Amino acid sequence: MSESEATVTRVATAAASSSPAHRQPWWRNAVIYEIYVRSFADGNGDGVGDLIGIRSRLDHLAELGVDAVWLSPFFASPMADGGYDVRDYRAVAPEFGTLDDFDALVADAHRLGIRVVIDVVPNHTSHEHPWFTEALAAGPGSPARDRYLFRPGRGSDGAEPPNNWESVFGGSAWTRVTEPDGRPGEWYLHLFAPEQPDLNWRNPEVQSEFRDVLRFWLDRGVDGIRIDVAHGLFKAEGLPDDTADREGILDTTPRPYWDQEEVHDVYRDWRALLDSYPGDRMAVAEAWLPTLERMSRYVRPDELHQAFNFAFLSTDFDPGAFREVIDATVRTLAEVNALPTWVLSNHDVVRHTTRYGGGEQGLRRARTAVLVMLALPGATYLYQGEELGLEQVTDLPDEVLQDPVWRRSGYTDRGRDGCRVPIPWDGDQPPFGFGERSWLPVPEAWRTRTVAAQTTDPDSTLRMYQQALGVRRVLGGSARLDWLDTPDTVLGFRTDSGLVCTANMGTDPVEINVPGELLVSTQQVHVSGVTTVLPPESAAWWRA
Ligand code: GLC
Ligand code: CA
Repeated sequence: MSESEATVTRVATAAASSSPAHRQPWWRNAVIYEIYVRSFADGNGDGVGDLIGIRSRLDHLAELGVDAVWLSPFFASPMADGGYDVRDYRAVAPEFGTLDDFDALVADAHRLGIRVVIDVVPNHTSHEHPWFTEALAAGPGSPARDRYLFRPGRGSDGAEPPNNWESVFGGSAWTRVTEPDGRPGEWYLHLFAPEQPDLNWRNPEVQSEFRDVLRFWLDRGVDGIRIDVAHGLFKAEGLPDDTADREGILDTTPRPYWDQEEVHDVYRDWRALLDSYPGDRMAVAEAWLPTLERMSRYVRPDELHQAFNFAFLSTDFDPGAFREVIDATVRTLAEVNALPTWVLSNHDVVRHTTRYGGGEQGLRRARTAVLVMLALPGATYLYQGEELGLEQVTDLPDEVLQDPVWRRSGYTDRGRDGCRVPIPWDGDQPPFGFGERSWLPVPEAWRTRTVAAQTTDPDSTLRMYQQALGVRRVLGGSARLDWLDTPDTVLGFRTDSGLVCTANMGTDPVEINVPGELLVSTQQVHVSGVTTVLPPESAAWWRA
């Protein structure tokens, strides 16, 4: 056997013994790609992304090498919050397509080996949901009102909201309704926009309805669910006043409306439901929580499979801070026998290229951080466009902004539209192959960032992601890491699957011992002899 044959055999054997396909459920070490449906690809020329658009671009995801996609809500909705306000949980919004389009998308994705995760929004419905219409008509004390959180107001004529809770999007979390007799009446709770009334999860009908909604989609073949505002379903008994100040949308202070104990019973119930289906159906929690310990409670063995690690997402680009959050995450989750779920960007936060400083430095750091993230044990979520190194668009004109945060903040917070700008695919005129037009303008400067432009550039961010995901298929799948002895500004670790990651997070070049065979790097690394120099703000992967 030649030396190269021997190497191939070794890699293949390692893959066979550590590959998730052999012993582990698919989601354990999966790379899951978030598609924000209205901004991915427009298949019918109306300027809004849709399901047929996604189908037409699945080859990009196959070439990228992701294991699954998570689709943002595509259900029937008046779109007060981009579809996170659902009118009918079993119907596809006409602007996104039809149920047949969805079935065809799932079939195409599955043929390519890509699983499909959908977004379930259980904390609130749309104000246009039939239940809410019914509740308004039925009046105080009715069973229809009990599906939501209606309360009389405070003050002599009930003109003050029932408590001091504020909406995540700004303003009071309560809106007063006009009763069927025309008089000002009760108030209803909405932790988000007034168009998103919160459900009463202590009502058994609410619980059984969502079980049924889950079955509807699981029966259609979806592989998993992302649970929107997973920590919000229950509110403290008696709806007591909130005593701490709000810190904005990503606030993590303990609150009477977040992270109540009863929520875990729902997830135990959902877990049993998911487990009753073949094929390792999974659930991931979106839960912004004050500590990793609180987060770990959502992924106890009989609860959900994953919970986004927002502590990692919120960490500055700093070697000490990275090491600390990585250690704390792995350790805290090991206590409940779970692996971490890493994420750097999503449709709610400023893109990480921009968070890390923007421009060339932001991109350098983003590439470094993603190689670190993709080497870590557990699963990873990517957000559409990060594989192109896209930045937050910070200069969208006021009149195109659609995020309810803009209006609800009294036009002080520009909201999240800047990370939701449509994806540039090809061509040299905006919107660069997204469609004929686009619901948000695509920057001219993205001409060099299109998928087509980056495919032919060997040093592009896209090519780096493709390479890294290719290596990860063979050498990923790890469950633990060991830190290497490296200089302060360098993060170095080896995983139990034989991958070594070295990241120089400082602004000076650093010499290190060559830890193995170079596999991928964010910048040119020259290896000759036993030491090598890591360029500033760069990372490399090695085969141990
Ligand atoms: C989640 C979603 C966000 C939405 C909110 C209300 O945080 O990710 O986009 O606005 O829930 O549904
Ligand atoms: Ca469209």
